[in-house]
Amino acid sequence: MLPRLLILTLAAALARAAPQNAGELRDIQDAQELYKGAQVLRVEAVSEHQKEVLRKMQEEQKLDTWLNPAAGRTHVDIMVPAPALDVVKDQLRNVSATFRVMISDVETAIKDENPSLSEEEEEELAGRQGHRFTLQSYHRVADIHGYLDYLAQTYPDICSVQTIGSSVEGRPIKMIKISSSKSRSERATKPAFYIDGGIHAREWISPASVGYIIKELTENRDSNTFADKVDFYIVPVVNPDGYEHTHNGVRLWRKNRKDASKGRCAGTDLNRNFGYKWGGAGSSHDPCQEIYAGSAPFSEPETQAIRNFVSNLGTSVRAYVTFHSYGQYILYPWGYDKKVPPDYADLDRVGKKAAQNMRQVGGASYTVGNSASLLYAASGGADDWAKGGPRVKYTYTIELRDRGRFGFLLPAQYIQPTGREAFAAIKTISEEITTSG
Ligand code: ARG
Ligand code: ZN
Repeated sequence: MLPRLLILTLAAALARAAPQNAGELRDIQDAQELYKGAQVLRVEAVSEHQKEVLRKMQEEQKLDTWLNPAAGRTHVDIMVPAPALDVVKDQLRNVSATFRVMISDVETAIKDENPSLSEEEEEELAGRQGHRFTLQSYHRVADIHGYLDYLAQTYPDICSVQTIGSSVEGRPIKMIKISSSKSRSERATKPAFYIDGGIHAREWISPASVGYIIKELTENRDSNTFADKVDFYIVPVVNPDGYEHTHNGVRLWRKNRKDASKGRCAGTDLNRNFGYKWGGAGSSHDPCQEIYAGSAPFSEPETQAIRNFVSNLGTSVRAYVTFHSYGQYILYPWGYDKKVPPDYADLDRVGKKAAQNMRQVGGASYTVGNSASLLYAASGGADDWAKGGPRVKYTYTIELRDRGRFGFLLPAQYIQPTGREAFAAIKTISEEITTSG
């Protein structure tokens, strides 16, 4: 092995470990313990009583719900730590709920999802000028942000990068603007499209797919002329602290990293923290819950950054898409209650067109519908704020792959196909906002 390569490999390994402090070290050890032998079960929960039993076990921390009950399907996905497996399975049998094992060992699934780079790949990346981002693996924030900076340098005519705020732990929240507009007046006539990913830390396919979209709009721009008619503003990682935490050993962390020393009770669910109908159904005031809404609307710097940035763009924003996983849904407001906005028929029509085009590019099938009716009520989401605050017409939450075979632990080889279908959705919505005036 070349000495230079040895040093680089060692440096990369150190960067991967490196807990910040004793608290983080403990969190990482707890997580490793939790994932060892843990299983993901798909439970058929039909009756209210069965669902109630699941809810209770969730409250008692016996399990972590990965996929909630929803309309049109009867199953719930739960992750159960090894020590609780017997009790949970017994309880399920007691209420005659059938289940099957989706992931028989979470620890192994985590190891298999994002294989570390081979020596050749490391060498190729090290020798490469510019950036380390690829669609072959899930990358750290530094690689993703490095890619944005590289694009701004390489395509200065259409790209620029701006830091729109910083996270609780002080990481930059970077936005790339992709636009061929040459003047202020040209910009004034074009619709703007806001896109983000990585609100929830563990949903790795989200920033990866947003990376795919960014690549298409820049490096592959010649094949995507529709993009000339739209100004794109894209934030690939809204929650950089949480995302780094999931790469540092706490793979299934969801929230941001507010009050990091509080272990499991740290963090706010950023998708419950937006200031429209904040704090209602499907959110919690208990900091120890995964759906903790925060101490006040927009209490978190990450949601503040988005609010400020999108509000400043003004009325030119005609579309707003925020990427999550998993389940394969295209969701439109409202999320806070089973109600629809007055123009929901437009949202439904364009959503269905997007789903059709996603399938046509060889993608998976996506279910389109109203957020609260299709899934469950959840207040304080980014989508509801975009629709209810700055009144962006085409506002969607897209839940990417898969439907539960791997759940959050989707292997890296699915990045390209998932990115391709995510891009098809963005193209469909772009065409809509450039033709319908
Ligand atoms: N899985 C997402 C979440 O739980 C869905 C959000 C849909 N939007 C909403 N406003 N409820 O955050
Ligand atoms: Zn999510």
